[in-house]
Amino acid sequence: MTFKIFLTGGSGYVGGSVLHTIARAHPEYEISVLLRRVPEAFSSTYPDVKIIKGNYDDFSTIAAGAEAANLVIHNGDSDHEGSLNAIITGLLRRSDAGYLIHLSGSGIVADGNDGRYHGKLNPKIWSDLTSLEEIRSLPADTLHQNTETIIHNAIRDYPGKINIAIMCPPDIYGKGKGLVKTHSVFVPMLVQGIKALGGKVFFYGEGTNTRSWVSMDDLMVLYLKVVQASASGDVAGYFNNSGYFFAGTQEHSHLDIVTVTGKILHQQGVVSDPKPIQISLEELDACVTIPGYEDMKVGRYLFASNSRTRAERSGKLFGYKGQSPGLLESLEAEILASI
Ligand SMILES: NC(=O)c1ccc[n+]([C@@H]2O[C@H](COP(=O)([O-])OP(=O)(O)OC[C@H]3O[C@@H](n4cnc5c(N)ncnc54)[C@H](OP(=O)(O)O)[C@@H]3O)[C@@H](O)[C@H]2O)c1
Repeated sequence: MTFKIFLTGGSGYVGGSVLHTIARAHPEYEISVLLRRVPEAFSSTYPDVKIIKGNYDDFSTIAAGAEAANLVIHNGDSDHEGSLNAIITGLLRRSDAGYLIHLSGSGIVADGNDGRYHGKLNPKIWSDLTSLEEIRSLPADTLHQNTETIIHNAIRDYPGKINIAIMCPPDIYGKGKGLVKTHSVFVPMLVQGIKALGGKVFFYGEGTNTRSWVSMDDLMVLYLKVVQASASGDVAGYFNNSGYFFAGTQEHSHLDIVTVTGKILHQQGVVSDPKPIQISLEELDACVTIPGYEDMKVGRYLFASNSRTRAERSGKLFGYKGQSPGLLESLEAEILASI
């Protein structure tokens, strides 16, 4: 029987990459994609992929898409509760146990709200094997906890009826494989912040705050494995109580990143001084904003917090480790795309 996938966020950085990876690796799968805007080259690039028009608030469309699929791969908005509830509802209507791979993010364990570690190395490292109880117990207002809680409850309430894996990548770098959004957020926002500060290549505090990273290529290796595990019915290895995946392959302090960034921006004539400079909390808070989220302290989260995760589960399952050039070697291409 044909294995059927329903995918959301197929025009996004992560979702577009997942779609591309699976469509190319498994032309035998039948793929449907929810799109609110259909990219121009979509049908010519993916002639066998079925388009379902809709957005994340279209409960009945999403539930029907999920019901018809063996596997739903949900990307695009890690915090959208309505779309996640629709997917779970649809999968539970199936006569067999459907699968869901949900995209969350390691922002769930970032310490951006913990002033003690702004600009400093936090010794805490989170494991996707041994830290799960602690992650589930994080306060309800922690980033992504709203949707992860819905998933934990579904796994508890519907044993044998639904199989769910949570993908929890850290910051991602590298060109996306999809048709529309092909770049991640961190580097463009760093360049934006440096420009807003009049060319100051900045760090806060000691600049030793450290985050994990993964390349898009390495992340896709992990996605493909989890998709293939769903197609082969490997619930015990990859889903439900075994279904939580960090994906980081390396970590870097903010100071390491801006030291390389400063040199590249200086070579490009964007800044006059390549040397990183310490800035105040006020400057950090003001240097970047996201339209519509002006109250959110994005600068603290991206540039002064720690988020240190270890992909131990996939390492144990299939020897997952980084194969791509590291972030620092890849920064030039990221920065050139951002200036
Ligand atoms: N990028 C990273 O480094 C990273 C790392 C870890 C976790 N994450 C998580 O991954 C999620 C997605 O990130 P991304 O970088 O892939 O985002 P992105 O490039 O902005 O992609 C978002 C995708 O979701 C679609 N979408 C969003 N809201 C929608 C709605 N209401 N209805 C229909 N489609 C909707 C967008 O469609 P349109 O094209 O129509 O806008 C697009 O396809 C984020 O929530 C983030 O927490 C990202």
